[in-house]
Amino acid sequence: MTDADLLTDAAARAAAYLGGVRARRVEPSSDDVGALCAFDAPLQNQPIAPRDVLAQLDSAGSPATVTTTGGRYFGFVNGGAVPASLAASWLVSTWDQNVALRVMSPVGAAIEDVVLEWTRDLLGLPAGCGGAIVTGATMANMTALAAARHSLLVRAGWDVERQGLFGAPPLTVVVGDEVHVSLLKALTLLGLGRERVHRVPVDGQGRLRADALPTLDERTIVCLQAGNVNSGAFDPAREICQRGRAAGAWTHVDGAFGLWAAASPRLRHLTDGFADADSWSTDGHKWPNAVYDCGIAMVRDPLQLRSAMTATAAYFAPTDRREPSQFTPEMSRRARGVELWAALRSLGRDGLADLIDRTCRHAQAFAEGLRARGYEILNDVVINQVLVSFGPPAVTLAVIERIQRDGVCWCGGTSWQGRTAMRISVSSWATTDEDVALSLDAMQSAFEGCRAGAEA
Ligand SMILES: Cc1ncc(COP(=O)(O)O)c(C=O)c1O
Repeated sequence: MTDADLLTDAAARAAAYLGGVRARRVEPSSDDVGALCAFDAPLQNQPIAPRDVLAQLDSAGSPATVTTTGGRYFGFVNGGAVPASLAASWLVSTWDQNVALRVMSPVGAAIEDVVLEWTRDLLGLPAGCGGAIVTGATMANMTALAAARHSLLVRAGWDVERQGLFGAPPLTVVVGDEVHVSLLKALTLLGLGRERVHRVPVDGQGRLRADALPTLDERTIVCLQAGNVNSGAFDPAREICQRGRAAGAWTHVDGAFGLWAAASPRLRHLTDGFADADSWSTDGHKWPNAVYDCGIAMVRDPLQLRSAMTATAAYFAPTDRREPSQFTPEMSRRARGVELWAALRSLGRDGLADLIDRTCRHAQAFAEGLRARGYEILNDVVINQVLVSFGPPAVTLAVIERIQRDGVCWCGGTSWQGRTAMRISVSSWATTDEDVALSLDAMQSAFEGCRAGAEA
């Protein structure tokens, strides 16, 4: 079998998989998950033909995937993969470029420059930002916060990259009580500690309360959120950024998905004021529906990011142009910017705005449909996130479990301001009105099934 035959085989298998995603279960069956034990074998001594490796992967692996690309996956905040991004990822894998340095991948570096600029523009961020393409918002938060740490400590006369954190002047980190756990993880990785943070109370939608903000100073990093993972709510950015700026603090925005509302003329107002911050993180694999994985960090002053990330070695031969790895935690790195570029290129501004508006419209349809069936919606549905209660906590949990098991759609659970809730996150380009209708029916029959089970 030639390389071309092998890739044709892979394409045929992928096409067959994609052709079936609308019809198949969303959560894989327990039998299919059980069959994964086929992989649980010691590594053999002899090589195996690539064709046979692929056949095993497809026959035992494909059935055990969660159907996140089919239009009825509403778990976490997971985008589907728009076709151009998926196809581009095949080409990127074939190229096998390492985008550490421009000389290693002129194409990877050039396209990364372009897509960073497109992203900055779509998010309405200031011209001249420095950017990095990383694996996701967690790493984007870490990357941007490393720039914040560098900048505030340099101003305090401390070179953290050279001297480390032991003995450094202390920094204060301020977050809303609804901070996403990934931001706390980023703080942990940076030695800023997940429990040393000052947590500010939030309102009924999870928005940080500006009136409860502590006094800020030039050793404070304030972390805002554009799009709460549960409610979709946006922190009051304009006032807090202004206060941060006046105090000499650094304001960072975790905008993993919500920041993309800026790309929709209808929703842009929700992101008012966020451009006044000093750094931002977001995801390409969430709302823009680039293939996994893709996160983006942006920093107003590129020098701060570069100073936090740069590493030099005699064999690097730097140029006077942007060298990708001088802005990222990683050295070697896949050309994942190309996959985001392909997603945005295929959608265009109008297609992206339509994707964002459409998913929000589906979220409204879920909220209205569930309310009409007598269930309680716990959040103001401002973007693509819906929180629903089916009654007492045990009932809601049982309904969630049954929805997942029935396989028509997939939603996860959460706890929202003391209430047990089911989360519906409509983040995929593939979701249709029919998917929403089918899913509403599945939710209703899961509820009825639970009630019948309880009465029996
Ligand atoms: C607000 C927010 N921040 C950060 C993250 C983490 O993103 P990732 O999983 O891409 O690292 C998420 C994930 O849903 C999120 O909603």
